[in-house]
Parts: sequence; C-alpha cells; structure tokens
Amino acid sequence: MKFFIDTANLDQIKEAQDLGVLDGVTTNPSLMAKEGITGDANVTAHYKAICAIVDDNVSAEVISTTFDEMVKEGEALAKLDPKIVVKVPMIKDGVKAIKYLSSKGIRTNCTLIFSAGQALLAAKAGATYVSPFLGRLDDISTDGLQLIEDIRLIFDNYGYPTQILAASIRGPLHIVNCAKLGADVITGPLTAITALLKHPLTDTGLAQFLADHKKAAEGK
Ligand code: E4P
Repeated sequence: MKFFIDTANLDQIKEAQDLGVLDGVTTNPSLMAKEGITGDANVTAHYKAICAIVDDNVSAEVISTTFDEMVKEGEALAKLDPKIVVKVPMIKDGVKAIKYLSSKGIRTNCTLIFSAGQALLAAKAGATYVSPFLGRLDDISTDGLQLIEDIRLIFDNYGYPTQILAASIRGPLHIVNCAKLGADVITGPLTAITALLKHPLTDTGLAQFLADHKKAAEGK
C-alpha cells in the first residue's frame, strides 16, 4: 500500500518524507490556499518545491472546468516535473480530459469520487488513480469504506489497472480499514499517518525494557 500525505505544507511533507514511508503528496486548491500559495508563478514554484522533497507522485489539481482548458492546464502541470500527476475533477469534461491526458502518457488522478459509478467511468477513461473521499462520506452518515470495497470489487472484476487512492482520510483506523479492503493508496494528514505509531503497550513495554536494562547494568 502506498502512503501519500494530503497537504501543501512543505514542513509536513519533509517530516513525512524523513519518516521513510512516504510515496507521494496530494494537494488541492483548498490546501494550496491554506498555505497562502496564489498566483501562477508561486503555484508553479510550490509544486517544484514539493517535487524536490519527495520521490514521486505529486498530485497537482487543475482549476479549470472545460475540456480545452483542463487539457492545457494539465499539460503545463505535467511539464513542470515528471513526478506530477494531474488531478482532474469528476465532471463530464474531466472524464474527457483524463482520456486525452492518459493517451498522451500523462498520469491522472480523478478527484471528488463519491460513487462506484464515478470510479468506473474514471477507470474506463484511463485514470491512473481515482480518489474516493471517505471522510466526507462519513461526515454525511454514509459508509465511505463500503465505497472502497465496491470499487475494489469492480476494478478486480475487470482487471482495471486504475489505483484506488482512498482520500479524505481522517485518522489511523481509516488507514487500517482501507488496507484491509485492498485500497492501493491512502492520502491523509500527517497526524493520521503518525498515529499509526501509537500503542500504550508499546510505551509501557519500552519503559519496562529500559528500566530492566538499567537495573541489570547497575548490578541490582
Ligand atoms: C484528496 O486528494 C483531497 O485532497 C483530500 O483528501 C480531501 O480531504 P478533506 O475531506 O479532508 O478535505
């Protein structure tokens, strides 16, 4: 399973990269705005800065919503760095743009997936990734994990190579449950990833080991 971090914050990306388990980054216009990144030149520089930190898979989202504009924007984003994956929204022109971009060898991430039918369409168009938004479904009392399970079944039925990128992850249990269901990738905040480290028995166990070692070393 791949781990992506869902942020445009360079410090957090560096911290996740230092942990040694990071496979990529997803950004979106809201996350870029949160970091105060506006204007074409700044946006471009920021994507390049992210690409300089991680090994691959930097999702950069198009802002336009028509086929021609999305293709133009997607091609420009892809030219910035070979690590860029063009993120395209699940709308009619977005599906057409995914088909076009993938035919040109440009990797795509179809975002804002909330149903299995949307995921199927994106896979047929040749998306590299589909991003079902788990947390936002859970937020409206709909089972986000069921969506992951349904997409996994459909993709396996037909052998679609499109990878399931479970997005809108809220915490460590989402990650573990996505792993159990066979999601290919999760993207979440740094806090969700580092929360996987935690178990109280690990803390008490380590304290005991160190105390026993100290006692033995002191000859007690
Ligand atoms: C997906 O790539 C999105 O950036 C993201 O996961 C959305 O998550 P949110 O619901 O926490 O905003």
